[in-house]
Amino acid sequence: MLKAQGYVGAPQNRVDGRAKVTGEARYAAEFEVPDLAYGIVISSAIAKGRITSIDASAALAIPGVVQVFTHENRPRTAWFDRSYRDDVAPPGSPFRPLYDEQVVYSGQPIALVVADEFEIAAHAASLVRVEYETDTHMTDLDIKRSEAYVPPKKRSGVTPPPSPRGDADQAFAQAPVKVHGEYRIAIEHHNPMEPHASTVVYEEDGKLTIHDKTQGVQNSQRYVSSVFGLSSDQVRVVSPFVGGAFGSGLRPQYQLFLAVMAALELKRSVRVVLTRDQMFTFGYRPQAIQTISLGANPDGTLQSIMHDAVQTTSSFEDYQEVIVNWSNLLYHCDNVKLTYKLAQVDTYTPSDMRAPGAATGVTAIETAMDELAYAVGIDPVELRLRNYTEADEANKRDFTSKELRACYQLGAERFGWSTRNPQPRSMREGRELVGWGMATGVWEAFMQKTAARAVLHADGHLDVSTATSDIGTGTYTILAQIAADTLGLAINKVTTRIGDSSLPKSPVQGGSWTAASAGTAVQVACRSVRETLFKYAREMDGSPLANASLEHVSFADGRIVLTNDPETGISFTDIMRAKGVDTVEAEEMAAPGMMTSLRYSGYSHSAIFAEVRVDEELGIVRVTRIVNAVAAGTILNPKTARSQIIGGIVFGIGMALEEESLLDHNLGRFMNHNLAEYHVPVNADIHDIDVIFVSEHDDKLNPMGIKGLGEIGIVGTAAAIGNAIFHATGKRIREYPITVDKIL
Ligand code: MOS
Repeated sequence: MLKAQGYVGAPQNRVDGRAKVTGEARYAAEFEVPDLAYGIVISSAIAKGRITSIDASAALAIPGVVQVFTHENRPRTAWFDRSYRDDVAPPGSPFRPLYDEQVVYSGQPIALVVADEFEIAAHAASLVRVEYETDTHMTDLDIKRSEAYVPPKKRSGVTPPPSPRGDADQAFAQAPVKVHGEYRIAIEHHNPMEPHASTVVYEEDGKLTIHDKTQGVQNSQRYVSSVFGLSSDQVRVVSPFVGGAFGSGLRPQYQLFLAVMAALELKRSVRVVLTRDQMFTFGYRPQAIQTISLGANPDGTLQSIMHDAVQTTSSFEDYQEVIVNWSNLLYHCDNVKLTYKLAQVDTYTPSDMRAPGAATGVTAIETAMDELAYAVGIDPVELRLRNYTEADEANKRDFTSKELRACYQLGAERFGWSTRNPQPRSMREGRELVGWGMATGVWEAFMQKTAARAVLHADGHLDVSTATSDIGTGTYTILAQIAADTLGLAINKVTTRIGDSSLPKSPVQGGSWTAASAGTAVQVACRSVRETLFKYAREMDGSPLANASLEHVSFADGRIVLTNDPETGISFTDIMRAKGVDTVEAEEMAAPGMMTSLRYSGYSHSAIFAEVRVDEELGIVRVTRIVNAVAAGTILNPKTARSQIIGGIVFGIGMALEEESLLDHNLGRFMNHNLAEYHVPVNADIHDIDVIFVSEHDDKLNPMGIKGLGEIGIVGTAAAIGNAIFHATGKRIREYPITVDKIL
């Protein structure tokens, strides 16, 4: 029934593509508002200490400057202390902008200059004089790691490492083959194309309509309501388009707070846009130092896995990730010991960044597995097959589905892996050494409780809506595909509305869970409309469907017809006319099945194969070929799905070779806070990327067997590239990104 129109599973152009390329799509800072004031944020120049004075007199003397907000004159709202929270905050005490004179990280917002024009605000901000008293700060994880601690509380969605299994220390001591190493991952910042921005529209009745750069309009809405003591109907967040986010838009960022504060005080619409360098003044992928010990038999079978990680967090929140748990999941092993600790540094709290935890942890374990492959002299793919596990051994559960074996096989075939000479430095072309490496990828297949509404109009047009975002993943399109198939409509008869807090309840878009969550909710709502419509059809006078049951009819081309006699049927329009209704509508909630959650583990998997070419004299690495074979359940739209995986791989190339936010520990500040010095892969860095979707049937996770694709593409990619660099050069580099200086 689902495939009546055949949209699901077929490559479909983005339904919002035209709006995006014509500029019709509006982003947070692009909504036109009359009498708008512009806010410019002043950032702290020190990493720790106190503001002793802020002199805004020169700024205030400029014509057109409306106000300069600081901790000294910020509004004293009663809600400021206890209600300052957001849906995805880690445990701790969230940073509150302009709360007091304390400075807890470099780049902290310390003032907002508001003016009638953007340029006036920017000029005035340069005239504000701030004096500080500095305290000693510390941003160096190598020093703070000695004070690392086990995070106190479980953060929702983040599973602490499971208790040890077997005796990993003893098994390691007795293992004939041992691999041991320390692996480092640098801090990375998200740098989406659209910087963070909020346009707060102050309506005549004092209500706020907010265009915020966010992955969760309802999270921003709840946050603003609770912080400013507003009822939920006084605040509406409308953000239909998001110019990339990668996790940076999960938590409300400070520009939202500042813009709302100013709008409420000035009773005027206010826009605050952060500059590119201010994009380095909030969350980031934390720095991590990991140690891994693998003990194995000479045939490569793992006897012991020990994986320890210490990761940075801020001085005020315990940001947590799932880093080491993957080592307990990927391979069969009876003796496993995992530890995870945090170390506080004087920066802002890290935040989720594409495949948080997995991108970090799997990079380390998959590098170590490559080292083991060389230690035992077994092909890296064969080593993984010898240690393959059919079950989640840590939780003693079966997988809902797992086609990783097929990923290895199909990926290796497409890449031509069988012709690989395992000897490092064995391939050369011109002045370049050529290397081939591979790694495994994995990501959890989440589903979150989500509601959706479907409204079928008498003219045969269908509206579906839910509050979720589309951060570029293709959510508009897959929801339209699912709705069109479920009700048997052409896709151009379906309008999807998302990114509005007044729409049915949805969590933030993150964790790769939106396709499964919002997708299922839309399907359930459309099914409900279908049932109502069918009921009306049977009730019609002389209905040809009077004796039919739902299983024996099809919904196609805007009609309900008998499946075995498609000439017999009634159009939706006639059904609704006969019933005397203009619309048939339903709102439904979808949630993961309790039994599935208790009995099964759901993950997507991948096998990544990489070819690098390394200029031996210059140390320059080119990633000339990547094949990524992904098993992620039902692929709703191979076109947008492929884009997600390519994006993840490009992210992985950045992680492997380029992306690194460098701290000057003397200043406690990120120094390369711009796209000239923070290097992300550009067109010239990207060559041949080939994505394979391995067929995977999953009948346990959710009705359509969807696993999600937003993050799996990055996981393992950096390790595959690092392993290829070892194969090319014979040099094992355990510190990512692998920059020229480390290769030479
Ligand atoms: Mo993703 S880091 O869950 O936005």
